[in-house]
Amino acid sequence: METLKQYLNNFFKRHQQHLQACYPGITLHRLTSELTRHCTSHGLSDLKILNAAFMSGADHKLDQFFQGLEKGIPLEYLSEESYFYNFPLRVDRRVLIPRKETELLVEGALATLHRLAKTSLAAINILDVGTGSGAIALALALNYEGKTPVTITAVDISPLALVLAEQNARRLRYALSPHCCLKWYRGDCLQWDWKVEAEYHLIVSNPPYIKECDKRSVHSQVLRFEPSLALFLPDEEYEKWYETFFSKLKKNLVSDGEAWIEGSEDHLRTLQSIARKLDLRAEIKQDYTSRDRFLVLHRGDCG
Ligand SMILES: C[S@@+](CC[C@H](N)C(=O)[O-])C[C@H]1O[C@@H](n2cnc3c(N)ncnc32)[C@H](O)[C@@H]1O
Repeated sequence: METLKQYLNNFFKRHQQHLQACYPGITLHRLTSELTRHCTSHGLSDLKILNAAFMSGADHKLDQFFQGLEKGIPLEYLSEESYFYNFPLRVDRRVLIPRKETELLVEGALATLHRLAKTSLAAINILDVGTGSGAIALALALNYEGKTPVTITAVDISPLALVLAEQNARRLRYALSPHCCLKWYRGDCLQWDWKVEAEYHLIVSNPPYIKECDKRSVHSQVLRFEPSLALFLPDEEYEKWYETFFSKLKKNLVSDGEAWIEGSEDHLRTLQSIARKLDLRAEIKQDYTSRDRFLVLHRGDCG
């Protein structure tokens, strides 16, 4: 009988083409670490399991992993874990898998937060719009080094996403800054009462930003498995959506506050003009591959 490790090697050889199509750049090494991660998150604790005999069809939890690969389910959903800004987040199909680009937004927002913490402010309010797994809100709370009390309000339209975000916050509670307080709300950011916590010094958001008409350029794995609510906006509503979003943002940002918004490379310039029409100062920031990625917004009546 094969060991689990041999079974995995053979599975990799047998399905190499399919695996490369679903998981570009996948290696046997990566697959082995995903399998061990899957084992740990399903209580099949130690690595010796790789050398134990394995027969397909006899172990439900391990079969789930191989069947998932055959279906092309994202590896993070299989292991129910994703690393973001160097910390583990529980993820499943209720939330978008946090992306590496978003770490740049966190970097920018953290710099602003630490600058604010050095001013005479008695307390700092942050809003995370479309929090999903809680990735951005938690990254800020995990990496905040200041002493000024910070309230991070996180809102999402999806009640399912919020369950997971709050679960992530509970799992990470001992690593969060003691000076940060997190609050979770369900709401549609276009209608929700943003003033629930007062005005914000910093607003962060990775909202849905892909137009339906751009779906063709999205990897089929993303289309099949990630929540479309997190990704897409109807073409005919796109500009109106951002107009409402930015006017709410403007009303709820303190006069010298700052907002970091992730957006689509193809539409960021349109969003920049929408923001400017609302009298917001809007600067485009690029990622490390020189692609337009973020809008940094300030109220036009300041500075
Ligand atoms: C691109 S995902 C970002 C998730 C997470 N912040 C991240 O960066 O990984 C967008 C999130 O916005 C939420 N969302 C979509 N429309 C919304 C709306 N109108 N109001 C509030 N949240 C919304 C989705 O449920 C989803 O969790």
